[in-house]
Amino acid sequence: EDADLARVAELVRDVPDHPSPGILFRDITPVLADAAAFTVVTTELASLVGDADLVAGVEARGFLLAAAVAVVAGTGVVPVRKAGKLPRVAASRTYELEYGSATLELPADTIAPGARVFLVDDVLATGGTAAAAVDLLTDVGATVVGFGTLLEITALDGRERLGDTRVDALLRV
Ligand code: PRP
Ligand code: MG
Repeated sequence: EDADLARVAELVRDVPDHPSPGILFRDITPVLADAAAFTVVTTELASLVGDADLVAGVEARGFLLAAAVAVVAGTGVVPVRKAGKLPRVAASRTYELEYGSATLELPADTIAPGARVFLVDDVLATGGTAAAAVDLLTDVGATVVGFGTLLEITALDGRERLGDTRVDALLRV
């Protein structure tokens, strides 16, 4: 398992000064494109879903992981979308990113009050995205049982933004 994750780590590429000067972008697309690595990541994240009823994934890169994780875990999947895409919005939250700001929205008629939801995204950086997603899910009456991510950038302390939410990262840099 550690050897598998070491192989996954080798596929993450560092891109200096993207999308703006001073930002070190972690490109995880080579992980997704590698069949063995994608399977490892999906299986490991699915093992964290526990008794959750649903997996939620954050647009855009979180979608790729969340749908795969949901299939393995045997749950449905809900997209946490960037603003302006959904025809019917259940709740909305604006948050600050490491670069810029954004609004996330949840679709109507997907999450019943009291639903237990496992949140997935590819990267935990400042934690603004994940915290906004947790707040959104809480707004509609869900219980967020945990947040799972492929890569945590520990220097940014994103974990601190998530309060009591359990956070599991497969890789930490
Ligand atoms: C990236 C990444 C996470 C988020 C992490 O998404 O995929 O969702 O930033 O950063 P944070 O912890 O500082 O909030 P981004 O908003 O760049 O867009 P994308 O997933 O649509 O590519
Ligand atoms: Mg993202």
